[in-house]
Amino acid sequence: MFASDPAPVSRSGTVLRARTHLPDDPLLGAIGHTPLLPLRHLLGREAAGFELWAKAEFMNPSGSVKDRAAWGIVRSALADGSLGPGRTLLDASSGNTGVAYAMLGARVGFPVELCLPRHVAPDRLERILSYGARVVFTDPAEGTDGAQAEARRRAEAEPERYFYPDQYNHAANPDAHYRTTGPEIWAQSEGRVTDLVAGVGTGGTISGTARFLRERRPDLRVTAVEPDGPLHGLEGLKHLPTARRPGTYDATLVDATLRVETEAALAMRGRLAREEGLFVGASAGAAVVAALEVGRRHPGSVVVTVLPDAGRPRSEPEGR
Ligand SMILES: Cc1ncc(COP(=O)(O)O)c(C=O)c1O
Repeated sequence: MFASDPAPVSRSGTVLRARTHLPDDPLLGAIGHTPLLPLRHLLGREAAGFELWAKAEFMNPSGSVKDRAAWGIVRSALADGSLGPGRTLLDASSGNTGVAYAMLGARVGFPVELCLPRHVAPDRLERILSYGARVVFTDPAEGTDGAQAEARRRAEAEPERYFYPDQYNHAANPDAHYRTTGPEIWAQSEGRVTDLVAGVGTGGTISGTARFLRERRPDLRVTAVEPDGPLHGLEGLKHLPTARRPGTYDATLVDATLRVETEAALAMRGRLAREEGLFVGASAGAAVVAALEVGRRHPGSVVVTVLPDAGRPRSEPEGR
């Protein structure tokens, strides 16, 4: 079922010529380069013997870390012609990648169609539709695995019509983090980072960032953050024991996995707002819960984590 009509692209239905000269577009140039924030107030209460820093990914143009992966995917597809005239970008998302693709489609000038579980957060859906993308709702009980299956089915049925990158298996997703997030953390921590702690959705963030940092620092510890069970409120994160394992997740780079309860993540989300002035999403709360645990286990460590997106209005439900 469609929540909107197809985005008007051109009268002939083909992709408009890129409206912006891509390399010089300041909006696209604003993707990444996010601040690395010390979480000093939070640590003060912990009387900690370690440092805790967080990458402010909610400061990306469409509001989340997914701008990096989506732009990496779109840029490579524009360069190799797979997102050429007449093609619609089609993919599955839990929300943030959909918002990022939709923003890029509006900015660069190509149509976007997204398969989203019906329980997608209302503010994400509002943004996606505002950017003019088309939405296909899938069974919420099947989560993003079901959305992925629907996107694949559509792409296989009309291969000429769609460019189907499949963010869960596209190398440009972790590569974007290898090229940008990793080098930024290395420079911003002045090479002092000892621990990377990050949530796993597609696994792109943790895999690409860890790969870069490990090359610089072979003793880097990498901790993955997952929900503590298949039913959770940590939108954007996967409980890997019960989900399809994404090809973009490189488990060989990960030393440990910490599974965080939704309640603990939401409580930390509240503390981040009140004590650090950071209004972030539930997966950011989970990442910080795990990062504090890693710091406590390793005195003297310099722990870097990722705050993937911003919070949302109280009136809206917290993911699933
Ligand atoms: C809110 C949120 N947190 C964390 C992640 C995980 O990022 P990645 O897909 O790079 O593993 C996502 C990905 O969609 C997300 O939307």
